[in-house]
Amino acid sequence: MTAGDDPIARGFPSDPMDLALDWLPGGANQCLMTLSTLDEGAPDSRTMLLSEVTRDGFHFHTDALSRKCAQIAADARVSLTILLAEQSRQLVVQGTADAAPAAEIAQAYRDRGPYLQQLAWMNTPEFAAADDASRTRQWARFSTEHTGGFSPPGSWTGYVVRPRLLRFWIGAADTASRRVEYVATDGGWEATFRAG
Ligand SMILES: Cc1cc2nc3c(=O)[nH]c(=O)nc-3n(C[C@H](O)[C@H](O)[C@H](O)COP(=O)(O)O)c2cc1C
Repeated sequence: MTAGDDPIARGFPSDPMDLALDWLPGGANQCLMTLSTLDEGAPDSRTMLLSEVTRDGFHFHTDALSRKCAQIAADARVSLTILLAEQSRQLVVQGTADAAPAAEIAQAYRDRGPYLQQLAWMNTPEFAAADDASRTRQWARFSTEHTGGFSPPGSWTGYVVRPRLLRFWIGAADTASRRVEYVATDGGWEATFRAG
């Protein structure tokens, strides 16, 4: 690579988390992402709230009994796709999902609104299979039984995705889109411009 095609020599930060923190909204639960996991080698994906981005990585929270958690327990490699449509940007992250600290998991529950807090309790296979009238009735009953607020169910959990690769896609109206790809090396990060 010559200095001319080195993104860092052209002003991109040497630490990609600086760019991720600059791109992504601050605060809790500001952004959606697609979380992809491996299901016995086959890809599996779903939309998730990106609960928070910190220097440690990308945080998400979920039900420990969910399929994604079983998949992560078997193979912790995951990919995140974060679309910032209004800014014409996309960030793809590859890394490993590690268990988040307990205090952070509890804080993430407090940061969710009452609907999502209740959902964490009622997200069971039995409730999913109940008839519509009973689902509405049980939801309302649970809600009136907990007017003082909710504490997290035992299965509420969270992960932090520690990246080994980040691809920042930058759209432009007056020229071609391009990407800046960062790959972790022993001592830091290597950055490369990519087409596409
Ligand atoms: C907009 C949106 C946001 C979502 N956010 C979350 C989330 O933060 N955590 C979560 O566990 N599920 C979330 N879900 C539900 C997941 O997409 C998924 O259906 C659920 O987690 C079960 O996934 P699994 O069976 O692959 O484990 C969200 C769904 C949508 C449509």
